[in-house]
Amino acid sequence: MNLRFYRAPLLAALTLLTSACREESAEPKEIVIGFSQCCSDVFREAMLFDMQIESANYPNVRLVVRNADYDNELQRQQVAELTRSADPVDVLIVSPNEAEPLTDVTVDAYLRGIPTIILDRMINSDQYSVAIGADNYQIGRTAGRYIRQHLPPGSRILEIWGIPGSTPAVERHNGLLSTLGDSYRVDSVHGEWQPNIAAERIARLESYDDIDCIFAHNDVMALAAREAIMRRDSISGRRIRYLGIDATYGVGLEAIVDGRLDASFLYPTGGATAIRKAVELLQGVPVEKNVRLNTATIDRSNAQTLIAQAQQMEDYQRRINRQREELNALSVRFDYLQNSSLAIFCLTALLIPILIYALYANRKIRQKNRELHETNAQIEFQRRELTLKNAQLERASTSKLRFFTNISHEIRTPVSLIINPLQQITRQGNILPAPVYETLKLIIRNADRLLKMVNRILDVSRMEDQSEVLILTEIRIADFLRDVGRCFEPLAQTRKIRFTLQDHSGNAPLTIDADKIELIFMNLLSNAFRFTPDGGEITVRSTCDRDWVTIEVEDSGCGIPPERLPHIFKRFFTDDRNPGTGVGLHLCREITELHHGEISAENRPEGGTRMRLRLQRGTAYLADRTVIKESPSALREAKGRSDGSLVSAKLQQRRSEKLLIVEDNADIREYLRRELGKSFPIETATNGAEALRLLRLDPKVSLVVSDVMMPDMDGLEMTREIRNDQRLSHLPVILLTALCGERNQLQGMAQGADAYIQKPFNIDLLHMQIVTLLDDRERMRRSLGSRIQEGNYLPPSEVAQIVGFDEQFRTRLLELLEKRAADSSFSTTDLSRELNLSRVHLYRKTKELFGTAPSELIRNFRLNKALALLEQRQWTVSEITYRTGFTSPSYFSKCFKALYGKTPSEYTGE
Ligand code: FRU
Repeated sequence: MNLRFYRAPLLAALTLLTSACREESAEPKEIVIGFSQCCSDVFREAMLFDMQIESANYPNVRLVVRNADYDNELQRQQVAELTRSADPVDVLIVSPNEAEPLTDVTVDAYLRGIPTIILDRMINSDQYSVAIGADNYQIGRTAGRYIRQHLPPGSRILEIWGIPGSTPAVERHNGLLSTLGDSYRVDSVHGEWQPNIAAERIARLESYDDIDCIFAHNDVMALAAREAIMRRDSISGRRIRYLGIDATYGVGLEAIVDGRLDASFLYPTGGATAIRKAVELLQGVPVEKNVRLNTATIDRSNAQTLIAQAQQMEDYQRRINRQREELNALSVRFDYLQNSSLAIFCLTALLIPILIYALYANRKIRQKNRELHETNAQIEFQRRELTLKNAQLERASTSKLRFFTNISHEIRTPVSLIINPLQQITRQGNILPAPVYETLKLIIRNADRLLKMVNRILDVSRMEDQSEVLILTEIRIADFLRDVGRCFEPLAQTRKIRFTLQDHSGNAPLTIDADKIELIFMNLLSNAFRFTPDGGEITVRSTCDRDWVTIEVEDSGCGIPPERLPHIFKRFFTDDRNPGTGVGLHLCREITELHHGEISAENRPEGGTRMRLRLQRGTAYLADRTVIKESPSALREAKGRSDGSLVSAKLQQRRSEKLLIVEDNADIREYLRRELGKSFPIETATNGAEALRLLRLDPKVSLVVSDVMMPDMDGLEMTREIRNDQRLSHLPVILLTALCGERNQLQGMAQGADAYIQKPFNIDLLHMQIVTLLDDRERMRRSLGSRIQEGNYLPPSEVAQIVGFDEQFRTRLLELLEKRAADSSFSTTDLSRELNLSRVHLYRKTKELFGTAPSELIRNFRLNKALALLEQRQWTVSEITYRTGFTSPSYFSKCFKALYGKTPSEYTGE
């Protein structure tokens, strides 16, 4: 981020903030006014109230009050505390309890520079800033004048004093005497400013008979004296005149109005004036040193007015207070708004750089996005190129694989052509000279080895095909291992290797592709035998737990160098120790992965290798599409059924059924023609298209033996065509191919092939398969034909169920017969037209399928149905005659008897 962008707005914000702070500090400094109050009573409360009201006019004034409760010493301490502490008050106001005790401490404050105000009572010094109070001497004189006006000379006046040490008490006394002179009798009682003391002193007097007037130095003492007198002598109490001082609103004025006091002399508290003067002193305003407060005489004539004024004042005060509160609230709101505006301004000031940064960032992001877009486009372009190259590579690799596979097939074909004739020759071993026989055996063995190697290579290429299927079958693990291991027993004996099988699994059942797992096991054992020295040891161990079966093959050989261990399952991994094709263990791993199992190798601490194969017991791990449950193949059946004598008898039989051999390889074609021609008439074709042409011309072919991979039309397509052609669909087809693997076999079956034989084939097994298929067909045909002939009427749907495979033609034919059974005009011509077949083909088909000519088939069908109806015993013979398409009962009866040996009536016993 470039800071130059933000320097100006930041500076502006800072300036504003500092100016705001400066305004804050321009507010008036707080003024602390310390007030030392001598005591507490109604007058003092009024004084304090006045002070607080006045202070409120100065928001910066803080009033600190201490009250000494008539205790001089306490008041001295309080004054010292207010003025001598580390943080002294700004102004001191003192209303001393007594003059003398408070003088030095007050003067001390004054001398130390604290503006000092003496309020109401004085000290014995003029070292103070301002003195505020009414003229007490004058008040005494006014009281004297009042007495003179209302009482005759010679009257007795009882004066109740305040504390004599306080200046107002002395001055008031002096003022009174100065007016009354000697014409009045004046006696004194000390009330010490306090009503309870005054009352107690008055109560002590013997009688009040000669008292004419009580003049107390304040209203509360006057009222207390009145009460005391009234309690003892109410007559005197009512007679006596009572005079007080203060005329305080709330006590004195009310007492005048209700007649308890005759008069009082207004004594202003001076509280408000003191605060005002304190502020002025601090502000440096010149202030008069002695401030005299006005007084007045209050009696019944003006007390009520004063109360009204006071109430009004009180009301004003309340309103002022309320307005002040509102003002305060407004001021708070104003402050809040002011602060908010400041905050808003600051935020705005902050937002501006953020906004600028956002714009800057946005521009950068857009730029980056553009760059990213370009990079993406480049990546996408490269990806497409890669995909294209991948596809090219894939195509190249696929065609290489196909080439590789085809070459392998090409090798297999001549090899099978070598092995088969040789096997035939060696079968007549007894007429061959022994050395020739042995040499031939050697050739066969090596050709066999060559075939196995080619097969192994084909296995690998097949494994690379992702869609490899598993043909699952359930085996018993120990039995399985024992069977496979048996092949190695002769070798073990020759090389004196201790070869043992230990089963700890309880011969556990296991569902696997047995052929493939056999391949793994063979591989592991071959390796074990290869690397175990003569006299060594090989152990096969099987164990299992709930989910897994583990097979271990241990040998006592030289082991595998540790650096090679991680590579042994890689394709084409060979080394000096392992000069094989390098596909064996790779194939093992591929097969294991197909089973979702695990295969590993380790060196045993005691020497030698341990190969471990782990297979899952369940099949839940396999996706359905990769699994086919095994059903016995035709070949296995043929193998299973054959026993020596029966097989040779069948193979030597000459038969009339014509075979069509479809094979593009001339050698194989000729070989098959020669071998199979010994038993069957033979036709040949070089591809599927030629075969189809031939079949359509020559309806005499009974079975087709065909290769799969051929030019023009391959065996699979040809089979499909045969199955879709109703003139040919009954023909058994055997597919014969070098394309090994169950998947191809299944594809062949799906096209409608009846059997599938893998090259290199055993010619005897092929021969046997042909014979079995033809016999099966014959058996089925006979069974169906005879069932119709024998009157076992079957509705067409049931026939279809029994037949259970592609016999659409048969079903259609029977359905037609059923539909037209009652139609006497329905003939073979109609049948061939409805089935869309020439009469010749129809004849051939019905002969093939039912062993009868079409006309005979129609008649027999009608008779079978008639027999079924007769058995139901619901209809008469003549009714059945017409229901089964016979034109007259007599003809029906004749035909029925010819087939079943009885007339219909005889049959039903009528
Ligand atoms: C109150 C008071 C008043 C009197 C004043 C004199 O404490 O006694 O009644 O007028 O003090 O200082």
